Amino acid sequence: MADIFSPVTLGDIALANRIVMAPMTRDRAGPGDVPTDIMVDYYRQRAGAGMIVTEGTQPSPTGKGYWRTPGIHSDAQVAGWGKVADAVHDAGGKIVMQLMHVGRAAVQANKDAGAETVAPSAIPCPDRIPGPDGVPVETMMPRALETDEIAGVIAEYVMAARNAMAAGMDGIELHCASGYLPMQFLSSNSNQRTDRYGGSVDNRIRFVVELLAALAAAVGPGRVGFRICPGVRFNGMDDANPHETYAALLKAVDGLGLAYCHLIHIPLDGQDALDLVRAHWNGAIIENGGLTLEKAQALLTDGKAQAVSFGYLYIANPDLVDRFRAGAALNKGNRANFYTGAGDDRRGYTDYPTLDA
Ligand SMILES: Cc1cc2nc3c(=O)[nH]c(=O)nc-3n(C[C@H](O)[C@H](O)[C@H](O)COP(=O)(O)O)c2cc1C
Repeated sequence: MADIFSPVTLGDIALANRIVMAPMTRDRAGPGDVPTDIMVDYYRQRAGAGMIVTEGTQPSPTGKGYWRTPGIHSDAQVAGWGKVADAVHDAGGKIVMQLMHVGRAAVQANKDAGAETVAPSAIPCPDRIPGPDGVPVETMMPRALETDEIAGVIAEYVMAARNAMAAGMDGIELHCASGYLPMQFLSSNSNQRTDRYGGSVDNRIRFVVELLAALAAAVGPGRVGFRICPGVRFNGMDDANPHETYAALLKAVDGLGLAYCHLIHIPLDGQDALDLVRAHWNGAIIENGGLTLEKAQALLTDGKAQAVSFGYLYIANPDLVDRFRAGAALNKGNRANFYTGAGDDRRGYTDYPTLDA
């Protein structure tokens, strides 16, 4: 029986408890996509989590698609994230950076002038994405990456991972879910390539497998996690056979010695997604998706996951671990402020009360 408040080690990362803060884009980066001082406060407030996964952070200007998301490709961004990592460590927590390259899920007006939009194939994302004023607009027609460009994209991610470690992060998490670039390679409908990165399932998983191996070689496998969501339809994903795709992916990366697999658990026809992961992956699992304290503890008790993550609950409950311990009531998040709040506007971001407040 693994108590949710007991310590756990995921790869090389030692967590004081099994409660993870799930990655959440909050669209509050400053000019140059640099983390701001209120972002430092936001993460410091949540350092009671066993581990924080940062919001999705672009490895390059090409990888950006949303409004005011932070990057990890410039010196100023590294310095800004350094303040975040220091604040979380000073408060006794651990923090890993989620690397998120959106691929085709991009709006040009949200990107630097001249930054391209690339994807496995020239098929646009059918979902609309908020532009700089928050109003959803049509996405860009992406340019299909040439075969000999793919190593360069992997090199951008590797540089970003090294930058994250230089900023003091405890590790990195590769975002392979939610219809962003890695998932665009994995899914049969968004990957119509005819080279060795498309077509058969072994070809569609190749980009993610090579990328995870490169990240592991760069920063150490025990400092690299990855996030998947088999079957998700977000951003136009429609894989013909998610079971086959993810079984192949998990088997291929199982031997790399990675820190964890972070599962966003949604209903999947046929085999349950957590059972699917457990059947093909021997490493640690962080389970996520609509969990309560009770559901999370039951999963840990049954040994089905080694840690659990909470998204929504962490927006409004910076001291979520203390509240769980005390059996205290939880604050409700205000959806109006999930993605808004420029400059030093703290509303709906760093102004949720803690128990002692
Ligand atoms: C405001 C918001 C932003 C999110 N941004 C990201 C993100 O950047 N990367 C990611 O992998 N998931 C993102 N998610 C998904 C969450 O990490 C999590 O998987 C989801 O909220 C389900 O967990 P929950 O039921 O505990 O909230 C986001 C969710 C919310 C509510």
